[in-house]
Amino acid sequence: MYPSSEIYGGFAGVYDFGPYGVELKNNLKAQWWQKMVYERDDIVGLDSAIFMRPEIWEASGHTKGFSDPLMECKDCNTRSRADKLLEDVGIFADEKMSETEINSLFSENKDKIKCPKCGKKNFTEIKKFNLLVKSNLGDFTNDNSEPVYLRGETCQGIYVNYKNVLDSMHLKLPFGIAQIGKAFRNEISPRQFIFRGREFEQMEMQYFTNPKDEMEEYEKLREYRWKAILDLGIDEKNLKWKKHKNLVFYAKEAYDIEYNFPWGFNEIEGVHARGDYDLTQHSKGSGKQLDYLDQESGEKFIPHIIESSGGVERLFFAIMTEAYTEDELGGETRVFLKFKPSLAPVKVAVFPLLKNKPELVDKAREIFEALKKEIKPMVFDDNGNIGKRYRRQDEIGTPYCVTIDFDTLVDDTVTVRDRDTGKQERVKAVELTSFMKKGIYESGNKIL
Ligand code: GAP
Repeated sequence: MYPSSEIYGGFAGVYDFGPYGVELKNNLKAQWWQKMVYERDDIVGLDSAIFMRPEIWEASGHTKGFSDPLMECKDCNTRSRADKLLEDVGIFADEKMSETEINSLFSENKDKIKCPKCGKKNFTEIKKFNLLVKSNLGDFTNDNSEPVYLRGETCQGIYVNYKNVLDSMHLKLPFGIAQIGKAFRNEISPRQFIFRGREFEQMEMQYFTNPKDEMEEYEKLREYRWKAILDLGIDEKNLKWKKHKNLVFYAKEAYDIEYNFPWGFNEIEGVHARGDYDLTQHSKGSGKQLDYLDQESGEKFIPHIIESSGGVERLFFAIMTEAYTEDELGGETRVFLKFKPSLAPVKVAVFPLLKNKPELVDKAREIFEALKKEIKPMVFDDNGNIGKRYRRQDEIGTPYCVTIDFDTLVDDTVTVRDRDTGKQERVKAVELTSFMKKGIYESGNKIL
């Protein structure tokens, strides 16, 4: 990962993903799509646009209520989130508190709280700051007086397409709509690297239920998402559920799944029971009927929604943290990324033992090309000694390295070296593809 616009000094809260980063990110998104769409007969996919009519954000409550408590240090002008500074000294606060509530909580504790930059305790009053990012798309006024917003969450695109999808796919309740895409938030203090960014990706699934089934389906979804995260190779001891203490008024229940990051447990995704709030609001806002007719009972009602909402970057960060491993190999300390093989950015590296022996290079190329038809992505590396080539692959978490040596030319076998154990074994070249498929996709979690 690189900071966005790095050669110009970086751009706060925005990051670019390099060649290996994009592979890992794509694998995480593919695993999510696999679990949330392909393995479910009751969930379909969607790709809605980033830009939507501004009325959508009025109806959803975002133009008024989607804000964080902002305050400024009077000495160095650093802006901070008041709830986060309170949290840092062990006082529960969150963005859902009113201005009055958070100002009074802050004044009760003001002696404990310092500016994170200059250390002074001289702050302005706390004001709510709206997180929606504005743009001038289609707004040709000179003062941007008719702004449209970059979406603050992807799920609004799902709610406003509920009727389209229902009618075109002839679905019956309960059913879900899943989407992966960019979201934008004017975060006051983007921090902890990609954990809290201003531009990020969400993976959201909205599940439409009969109101009487909402809480039962909610429990099922919680369990399903927990298992899907474990299936990424995360150790269960590094995960926990956190129940929201301060619910938004329409929510019935909300839980976060938290991961044990280097600084402690923090949210990677949320599972929320949202009732009929979203469809009711969009029905009022658009003037369109968004209710559902149950063909069997003849009942008409607005479906209740449960959602699972995760951030790609946060999951990425969790997976990197989980994979980071140090051990001793050949008497030396080694650092490597112990990804579940199906998630690794590079699956297999192929090496000719010596770069200056054309017969070895040609044979290695032949094996590389044959394997590449089934296993992706792969790298071909003939640079430096074999030990160094292994270490390069360990550092990026490549599960297998294949070396072609002089014996290969005689008996058509190759050396396969395992990332986690460093052990080497001889495998027949004709059996290499099935060997790799088994090792990389053994859990049945086939990606790409
Ligand atoms: N539709 C519900 C919703 O958007 P949220 O808790 O605001 O709920 C859901 O966001 C997920 O999106 C979070 O669990 C997190 O993984 C990710 N997320 C939210 N804000 C983020 C940010 N500023 N940077 C990176 N990821 C973020």
